[in-house]
Amino acid sequence: MDKTNESEKIEFDLILQAIYQKYGYDFRDYAKASIRRRLRYRLTQSNLKTISEMQHKLLNDKEFFDSLLLDLTINVTEMFRDPSFFKTIREVVIPEFKKQPFIKVWHAGCSSGEEIYSTAILLKENGMYESSLIYATDTNEVVLDKAKSGIFPIEKMKDFTVNYRKAGGLASFADYYTAKYDSAIMDNSLKKNIVFSNHNLVTDGVFGEMDMIMCRNVLIYFNRELQDRVFRLFMDSLRPGGFLCLGSKETIRFSSYSDNFENVAEKEKIYRRVGVPLKNLKI
Ligand SMILES: C[S@@+](CC[C@H](N)C(=O)[O-])C[C@H]1O[C@@H](n2cnc3c(N)ncnc32)[C@H](O)[C@@H]1O
Repeated sequence: MDKTNESEKIEFDLILQAIYQKYGYDFRDYAKASIRRRLRYRLTQSNLKTISEMQHKLLNDKEFFDSLLLDLTINVTEMFRDPSFFKTIREVVIPEFKKQPFIKVWHAGCSSGEEIYSTAILLKENGMYESSLIYATDTNEVVLDKAKSGIFPIEKMKDFTVNYRKAGGLASFADYYTAKYDSAIMDNSLKKNIVFSNHNLVTDGVFGEMDMIMCRNVLIYFNRELQDRVFRLFMDSLRPGGFLCLGSKETIRFSSYSDNFENVAEKEKIYRRVGVPLKNLKI
């Protein structure tokens, strides 16, 4: 339970306001309890005594802000996270894509890239990688750079291999990377159709005519109002019939835009945008 008292609440709100005004990152509509937990964590880690001391440091020390940014944007991820989700993409969504000459996928909040390479592998195994374009975006430049490098700790490959198999993987997972010392370097052929860019879901605009948007385990950190704004952004970025994929604890069901989406696999949080393309409408 969030035991923050009234004065602390005001001080935390002022910090979020300060971050927005000084650095342009808008955390004001993130879920409050989780944001406060993160701010408190940084407070104790930095040996600061009060929130106002933290406010001062934040405004005058860019390096401090950078470490706080890493705390506030939680970056936990893995390859083939929730294997049954990727299995459903393989069995239900990919066959739909096979009817199209070209597909565009947007990974919003892609963190250090594990999820993007998972999708790239799925597309490759289904002979679709060459006719795909993957947009990989995140608001955090540090994790985005890791995603671009395509280099992951080798010790994680064991768990990723298990996930890959559970997700219906067809090959040997080791075929997709080269091991070098303590790193696994993803195959360059997986990277060439990925466009990496910084995009903030709170403040930036639409990516047009996507066939699939994956935004998993990001909206859970936003309040209901902000989630709704982002659902609108996704609706405007998807072509009719395009797929929206959320994280296991997220749903579009309670949003104002739920009528614009139909369930494809509610358990896996895969939805499809309904609507007739304007060009097919007889007016
Ligand atoms: C928990 S990770 C999820 C990563 C991946 N999608 C997955 O499910 O494994 C959340 C990611 O969302 C990003 N994020 C948080 N707020 C964001 C925003 N406003 N715009 C874009 N990305 C954001 C964070 O930087 C972080 O990398």
